[in-house]
Amino acid sequence: MKITVVGAGGNVGSTVALTIAQRDFAKTVVAIDLERKDGEKTFHPAKGRALDQWQTSPIHGFDTHLFGSSDYEDTKGSDICIITAGVPRRPGMSRDDLLSINANIVKSVTEQLVAKSPDTIIIVVSNPLDVMTYVAWKASGLPSERVMGMAGILDTARYRAFLAEELQVSPKDIQAQILGGHGDTMVPLPRYTTVSGIPVTQLIDKEKLDAIIERAKVGGGELVGLMGTSAWYAPGAAAAQMAEAIALDQNRIFPCSAYLNGEFGQKDLYVGVPVKLGKGGIKQIIEIELDKDEQELMNKSADAVRSAMEDLKRITS
Ligand code: 2OP
Repeated sequence: MKITVVGAGGNVGSTVALTIAQRDFAKTVVAIDLERKDGEKTFHPAKGRALDQWQTSPIHGFDTHLFGSSDYEDTKGSDICIITAGVPRRPGMSRDDLLSINANIVKSVTEQLVAKSPDTIIIVVSNPLDVMTYVAWKASGLPSERVMGMAGILDTARYRAFLAEELQVSPKDIQAQILGGHGDTMVPLPRYTTVSGIPVTQLIDKEKLDAIIERAKVGGGELVGLMGTSAWYAPGAAAAQMAEAIALDQNRIFPCSAYLNGEFGQKDLYVGVPVKLGKGGIKQIIEIELDKDEQELMNKSADAVRSAMEDLKRITS
C-alpha cells in the first residue's frame, strides 16, 4: 500500500502522513510539497518533515516508510492520494480569490497525480472542501466512487468531543452522523446521535444539545480564532482514518463528501453524506431517512455548496 500526501510541507498534510505511519497499515508514505525559496536558500519542508517523522519510527514502533519529495515521479503507483494543498484565506482576499486559487492548485495537483497513478483513489482535504472535491473529480477522470472529500469525520469528531465533555462519557462511545457541506450550514443530526446505542436526546436537554451543535458547526472558526490559523490535528487524523478504511477494506460507515446523482434530492454535487468506505473507495451512499426539517436543512446546505460551485464557474469561464 503506497499513499501519497500532497501539501505535506504544511501542518495538515504532515499530520495526515504521520498519523498514517503511526497506524502502520501502509508500506510507504510519499510526502509531496513544493520547495520554498528564501533568498539564496532553497528549503524542502516536505522532505524535512517526512525525515523527522521517519526518525520517530523506532520510538513509535512503525514500519511505514515516509519520505519527502517535490517530484511527482516519486508518487508513481500510489493506491491512495490525499490532497491537502491550497492556500488559506488571507486578509484582503475575497472568497472568489480563494476559490479560483485553490481550484487551480487542486486541478493541477490532481492531473499530476493521476498521470502517475491512473487507478488511484483521491481524498481531498483542501478548502472550500466540497467544491474542491468536485474540481478534483472532474480533473481526475476517475469514477466518482474513487474521489471523495474529508469533512464529516472531522465535523462529527468535534461534535462527539464536545458531547463527551458535556456528558462525561468516553468520546469513543458517541456515534453521530452529519450531512451537508463543510461550512456553517452543515447539518449535525441529533436523531442519528447515540451514546453506545442510547439516543443522545435521552441524555441531554435540548438547549444544551443545540448549543453543542452550534459550536460544532463553527468548530473550525473557533480554532482559527484561538491559533490565528486553521486546525490540523483533527483534520489530519480524519483524512488518515479514511485512508485506513480504504486500505484495510474496513467497510466503515463515515460521513464523507461524495458525488450525488439524485440521492438526498441532490444532483451533480459533492456534499457530505453517510457512505460505506472500503476497498475501491465509496462502496455505497447510505440514504438515511430524513424528516421534513432535516431535509430542509440538507437542501439549504447543498444550495450553499451549489452557489460556491456557480461562483467558481463564473470566475473561471
Ligand atoms: C477545519 O474545519 C480548516 O476545514 C478545516 O478546521
